[in-house]
Amino acid sequence: MNGHRTLSDWSYGKLLSLVAEYGTPLYVIDLDRIRKNYRRLSSAFPDANIYYAAKANTAGAVLQTLGRMGAGIECVSAGELYRSMRAGIEPAKLLYTAVNPPDPDLDFAVDLSDITINIGSHDTLRRLSERNYSGRICLRINTGSGAGHHKYVSTGSDAKFGFSPEQALEILSKYSSYDFNIVGIHAHAGSGISPQEMDVHQNLCKTLGDISRSSPIDLEFIDIGGGFGVPYGPEDTPLNLSEVSSKIYNSLGDTSANIVLEPGRYIVADAGILLTTINTIKYLDSHNIVGVDAGMHTLIRPALYGSYHDIKNISSPHNDSSLPNTTVTGPICESADLLGVNIELGASTPGDILAIGNAGAYGEAMESQYNSFPRSATVAIDGENVGLIRKRETIEDLCLYENEVDWF
Ligand code: LLP
Repeated sequence: MNGHRTLSDWSYGKLLSLVAEYGTPLYVIDLDRIRKNYRRLSSAFPDANIYYAAKANTAGAVLQTLGRMGAGIECVSAGELYRSMRAGIEPAKLLYTAVNPPDPDLDFAVDLSDITINIGSHDTLRRLSERNYSGRICLRINTGSGAGHHKYVSTGSDAKFGFSPEQALEILSKYSSYDFNIVGIHAHAGSGISPQEMDVHQNLCKTLGDISRSSPIDLEFIDIGGGFGVPYGPEDTPLNLSEVSSKIYNSLGDTSANIVLEPGRYIVADAGILLTTINTIKYLDSHNIVGVDAGMHTLIRPALYGSYHDIKNISSPHNDSSLPNTTVTGPICESADLLGVNIELGASTPGDILAIGNAGAYGEAMESQYNSFPRSATVAIDGENVGLIRKRETIEDLCLYENEVDWF
């Protein structure tokens, strides 16, 4: 039993009633599902500390839910640190991954006592020293093991991220010459790692285990990153968490350091759904085109990575194949504006509601106003509770920060 939730596990009646009240495009996020995913992961790794990767879904209600369960939060910007603290997370529970950090972000992080800053370049070390930072740091290591659902998200072997193992050991050997406290090492292979690629992740764990044993100082933790994949398409298989966990512990080998995990997708992907209304249908000889009111501006994953998301007509959920060979597209003037390609939909008419599955991770978080469409709304559900956690933007909101020049 893998516990992964698919589109048909949602109550269509409830989703349609949310659409009736809040309109479309609408993100729905199920906080109770987030708790369950968190529990599944923490029971497979009982000794590990989990830092939820905020980038997957930064909604305050999501951060609050996880914070209350005891999770720390992994952040990549001052904005994510700010959102986490706003959700009640203490700085001691924040891990800031400083990827090529802009000055204002580094300044913001340095001012938070007890935070841990994860750095991956000598230059960032220098910039921290310049700021008289004397707090906790973690060394990000490029183990050469990259994995993930697309080359754009396979970070483990990308030179942009992290020190080489040799550089990390050299920094560790000079620990006494620094004012700050080196407390951990970190590596992240990539995002959306499938069961078939887990051996790459195990290589990463082995390298981290070896470094911790060669380190002249005892490390408080080894952070093995995030990247735990979830099934999106019918052929995808779910991770067997207990198997993954025992292989990870084996690969790390003997260590007194605590294990840290940074899952994003695994916690929120199947807790979220995107609802959209059909505007137009075009019947062609070669295929059908179903035009909806969400698009690449709402959910960019299919356009950016060619990602598959399950799509179902929840207004008329018949399992016929009236619309085979269907492209689901949005209102954006780009051919990349795709949500589904060559999929099969049942009989559909304009006005019907389509549900797009696994939209809880990297959906709302990557939404934009491209082509001047106001961003969608988000509703949280939690058992019987329902609440609007992000208002739909208005057309006027599009110009909120626009300034007129004074020479016209
Ligand atoms: N830790 C670090 C340092 C990361 O860079 C990431 C993701 C994570 C943790 C969380 O990875 P997860 O458990 O969610 O796979 N926009 C892409 C995903 C980009 C992920 C970037 N880093 C997508 O929609 O698939």
